Amino acid sequence: MMDGKTVVVTGANSGIGRATASALASLGARVVVTGRDAARTESAAAAIRDETGNAEVHAAVFDLGDLASVREGAAGLLDRFDRIDVLVNNAGVVLTTRRETVDGFEATFATNHLGPFLLTALLLDRLRSSTPARIVNVASTAHRSARGGLDFTDLQATRSYAGMRAYGRSKLANILFTTELARRLKGSGVTANSLHPGTVATGFARDGDASGFLAFGIKVIRPFILTAEQGARTSIYLASSPEVEGVSGRYFVKNRARQPSAAARDTDAARRLWEVSETLTGLAGPDSSDSPDSSDSP
Ligand SMILES: NC(=O)c1ccc[n+]([C@@H]2O[C@H](COP(=O)([O-])OP(=O)(O)OC[C@H]3O[C@@H](n4cnc5c(N)ncnc54)[C@H](OP(=O)(O)O)[C@@H]3O)[C@@H](O)[C@H]2O)c1
Repeated sequence: MMDGKTVVVTGANSGIGRATASALASLGARVVVTGRDAARTESAAAAIRDETGNAEVHAAVFDLGDLASVREGAAGLLDRFDRIDVLVNNAGVVLTTRRETVDGFEATFATNHLGPFLLTALLLDRLRSSTPARIVNVASTAHRSARGGLDFTDLQATRSYAGMRAYGRSKLANILFTTELARRLKGSGVTANSLHPGTVATGFARDGDASGFLAFGIKVIRPFILTAEQGARTSIYLASSPEVEGVSGRYFVKNRARQPSAAARDTDAARRLWEVSETLTGLAGPDSSDSPDSSDSP
């Protein structure tokens, strides 16, 4: 079903991303497993090769919370892979205490939005030349917690910080990014959709990043939640199913297009976020010769 397709899955050394990568490798795709840690990422790629019998599972190491690393990672992918049919932006974090990245950005916003934004922009020409191509952004129902929308006056949460609020806003950013990306890609043969995977028992927020109430909440609901394989289903569906060929700009839950929150349907906010993100990632402005898509049309 996916023979001849090359799929890049970020954050694929564990959890939903690993299950997504493994399933797509089973379907015959050449799969690139990306992660920030070389040993974890290479060992996941090797394990997926073993369990699927697909020798075309590769590792790529770069840190989505570091824009220079994202640029190096994107350049490496473009160098190694002549086509990219599907990009699954899956990696994500939730951080109870405010941290800043090497670029000086709040780490949740940087890792969950700015890194994937830059990666996508840098891979866009390759996706365009591999049409029909798909971009799949793993968002979350947590976007609904950001009722007032993004706070464009304090995107870096310098005035006040709460882990779940920053996470909810970053997941809202994933949906707004998808909306604007789909608009810009209209007619290009590249689609962009986002999704909520369900509540999934993964390593998410288990690595010391969650504490107190958040960790307690996760522990309490853990027995009732999905396996990583179940949580990967909508990502796999959007990456591979003929049913969604040509479908773009939608938000999916359990393989169905659903309406996201009112804040996530704000197309002005989506455009504004795109423009701000271009500036923050260095894609906009006089030095942006490597920007594949700084214009308003694809
Ligand atoms: N689990 C849920 O219930 C749930 C619900 C809704 C949405 N989601 C979304 O699903 C996605 C996958 O989450 P998951 O539950 O599978 O969590 P997970 O098991 O913690 O996986 C997250 C992946 O992202 C990678 N990652 C984190 N920071 C990174 C960085 N700076 N650079 C590169 N890779 C990085 C992690 O790598 P390391 O191993 O190096 O940390 C890991 O491979 C996330 O976008 C999350 O927001 C999850």
